Amino acid sequence: ADFLNKEDILKGKKIIVTAGGTIEAIDPVRYIGNRSSGKMGIAIAQEAAKCGAEVSLLVGNITAALPTDPHIKIYQTKSAREMLAKLQEIFPQNDGLVMAAAVADYHPKEYVDHKIKKNQASDNLTIELEENPDILKTIAQTKRSDQIVVGFAAETNDLLENAHRKLEKKHADFIVANDVSKNVFGSDEDQVTILSKNRENDVWPLMTKKKVAEKIVQLIADHLTK
Ligand code: CTP
Ligand code: CA
Repeated sequence: ADFLNKEDILKGKKIIVTAGGTIEAIDPVRYIGNRSSGKMGIAIAQEAAKCGAEVSLLVGNITAALPTDPHIKIYQTKSAREMLAKLQEIFPQNDGLVMAAAVADYHPKEYVDHKIKKNQASDNLTIELEENPDILKTIAQTKRSDQIVVGFAAETNDLLENAHRKLEKKHADFIVANDVSKNVFGSDEDQVTILSKNRENDVWPLMTKKKVAEKIVQLIADHLTK
């Protein structure tokens, strides 16, 4: 369907985007989390909405400003487990998911319900961590053939090998591979490589995150039209 543009395809489609880092609470005032501005996910949400999609944006901890587009519904999901629960509820009613969130891989095993005081007897503090569920993998496993799931891979080394492993393991339709050893966090630009099962890797040049978002939304539109 070469004659359809992405606005024709995405009009009325429902797309979920996750953005920012999850917050894994240690006590009422402290948490562990990842570095993430949320810019990439927000740019994708904005572009999808601009193309006529109805967007659900699940945000954790972001430093970028939240979008105000009336076609973007914002849900605050703090922890990875909260984000997964929300997705399990809404993914069946949606056409696609873009997991741009920087999900913390672990959460503190025990949440302390009061502010932890400094220990006078020792200079050390140990916090035991427990693995978070793999949200992308869990959701992509429930994917129907008319739905699309896009994941990211943030790597500091062996970018393509690691990203390829994630494509396979997580059952994503596409992985957006991202070298985070360079200045990505908080930046307005990004250089990514797109991996998918039946296609050669597509190395995109350095461009603004807005442009990356436009191209990712185009990919989604092309996939949903098949
Ligand atoms: N992701 C997820 N749930 C997790 C961890 C990651 O859904 N518990 C998603 C991220 O949103 C991203 C993709 O999986 O879309 C890859 O995240 P990344 O951190 O690169 O991969 P991990 O599988 O967590 O592996 P590692 O951090 O060990 O490289
Ligand atoms: Ca991770």
